[in-house]
Amino acid sequence: MEALITLLPGDGIGPEVTRCARDVLDAVAQRFAHRFEFREALIGGAAIDATGEPLPAPTVESCQASDAVLLGAVGGPKWSDPNAAVRPEQGLLGLRATLGVYANIRPVRIHPELAAASPLKPEKLEGVDMLVIRELTGGIYFGKKTRDATSASDLCEYTVAEIERIVRVAARLAGARRGKLCSVDKANVLETSRRWRDTTDRVVGDEFPGIELETLLVDAAAMHLLSRPADFDVIVTENMFGDILTDEASMLAGSLGMLPSASLGDSTVGLYEPIHGSAPDIAGRGLANPCAMIASAAMMLRHSLGLPAEADAVEGAIANAIADGARTADIAAGGSHISTDEMAVEVIRNLT
Ligand code: IPM
Ligand code: MG
Repeated sequence: MEALITLLPGDGIGPEVTRCARDVLDAVAQRFAHRFEFREALIGGAAIDATGEPLPAPTVESCQASDAVLLGAVGGPKWSDPNAAVRPEQGLLGLRATLGVYANIRPVRIHPELAAASPLKPEKLEGVDMLVIRELTGGIYFGKKTRDATSASDLCEYTVAEIERIVRVAARLAGARRGKLCSVDKANVLETSRRWRDTTDRVVGDEFPGIELETLLVDAAAMHLLSRPADFDVIVTENMFGDILTDEASMLAGSLGMLPSASLGDSTVGLYEPIHGSAPDIAGRGLANPCAMIASAAMMLRHSLGLPAEADAVEGAIANAIADGARTADIAAGGSHISTDEMAVEVIRNLT
């Protein structure tokens, strides 16, 4: 098949992990006789430096004309002045909103060989295999913001329709897995969470009779993720809770550098990005783990390009490289490690 993919390397380690994902995709194209055409565009701090804007119009146009978008990371100390008029993160949030990708799918799977890289006891990690479905285009991230000399505010707002559609996505995914859905909210305090909870109860009750629904308050969920992580199948939650809980969940997998994500809307044009940030402290030093980015490219093959066998091949190649002992610094647990580029080479070598 032929596909057009927009690459948005962004800032910090974004460009180096994006290059790795592109190399892996080139290898996939060769192995499976596809043609992937890549177009690179600016986003985040790199875009601010070049154009003054975090999401220039040509970037949006390229994304909209593509089959899928692969994004590295945005942000960094250079652009983090709290009084700055424009911020790199506005580029990312603007792109998510523009593409309408409200469903952010963050799989948390364990490579058994990486148990030593996790701060949790190995026996807790056995059987961990969950999907966190994070609502991505609503909530406190997108509400009205104010700040003056003596106060500041962020409005958190959700419509019933926004909650219904994300719950449907999560319940459908649960139906194709172990049939368990856990909705996370803060309904003892927040009005948006009470709406979230009654909507979830109704949608699941009326439309998904086969799904077993559990509800947790977000503080308790943060604890349960560590005390009984293997119990979770699909978790659905609002934007900011999902952001926080998935960084926590990455420690089950051993590193933030292991978790990919897919952001989908009602069309197949998806946005694929690792859950980690731009890690400016390690940028350009060959220390970044490209696995999250490469695994995000695998999700792209599956969800946007309709190439499940190719996606399986890439995920299998990552697993085999790790089983062979390939380790970047973050997952080396103090042992020897290879560079960002060498990890990509190992993945390509394991692509069968
Ligand atoms: C993520 C990141 C972003 C978010 C930042 C960079 C705006 O933390 O994708 O999880 O908060 O959504
Ligand atoms: Mg985050």
